[in-house]
Amino acid sequence: MLVILKRNEEEISSQAAQLIAGAIRRKPALTLGLATGATMVGVYQHLTQLHQAGSLDFSRVVTFNLDEYLGLSAAHPQSFRHFMQENLFAHVNINPRNIHIPDGTIRDHYDQYCASYEQTIRKAGGIDLQLLGIGRNGHIGFNEPTSSIGSRTRLKVLTQETIDDNSKFFAPDEASPRCAITMGIGTILEARKILLLAAGSAKAAPVAQSIEGPVTSAVSASALQLHPDVTFIIDDAAASQLTQRDYYRQVLEMTALLTPDRLS
Ligand code: F6R
Repeated sequence: MLVILKRNEEEISSQAAQLIAGAIRRKPALTLGLATGATMVGVYQHLTQLHQAGSLDFSRVVTFNLDEYLGLSAAHPQSFRHFMQENLFAHVNINPRNIHIPDGTIRDHYDQYCASYEQTIRKAGGIDLQLLGIGRNGHIGFNEPTSSIGSRTRLKVLTQETIDDNSKFFAPDEASPRCAITMGIGTILEARKILLLAAGSAKAAPVAQSIEGPVTSAVSASALQLHPDVTFIIDDAAASQLTQRDYYRQVLEMTALLTPDRLS
């Protein structure tokens, strides 16, 4: 587990975009797992800038989003499909056929639909690089606390905390969704490389629990300790409850010296 400490959200976004761009340049047909949410906005802006400057080609990149609200159509302004379109897809040369986001409008046959999402990931050769944010309750994707570490893509009931966090994006008279389709923790752990970004003091506790706490289904992101290639990129506020910050800085210096490929 590599922990990259940055001063603020802008530095996180820029570093994450550089790592993603490096992965795409090394493998133009990269299978990229994507997340939504406030933390991702800056990353997608940086990726857009790199593309518009002519230095990043998305034409062969294949994407799989982590999750989507149940009940929201692609056109709904709060759907994750809409978020991705607005923040990334409309601005880069991605082939629409290569975009995969769980369909929030499905009714019934949820298990069958979710199994087919997993099958599509497998057919694409698996996810090379998975981008993650983290919820205040430690969720990754919408794997709420007590999600099984072996869980697969499935219908998930959201916690009240997550519903409250997301309700600010919905109109006051509009009920925010109570369920979502999300990749499972087991699905996420199969990605070859994982990048988790966190900014702000609201993420300090889940970040510390995920990196330095026990592996527990009470904090879904702690399951990342089981993965061989995870990089956390976090700002000072989100890192404030970590006890080993000096050590992480030393590891980063040595990584830059001995295995710089991990940082490009
Ligand atoms: C969204 C997702 C969520 C968010 C998390 C953090 O696709 O998977 O796990 O990454 O809720 O969201 P923000 O960045 O808005 O704090």
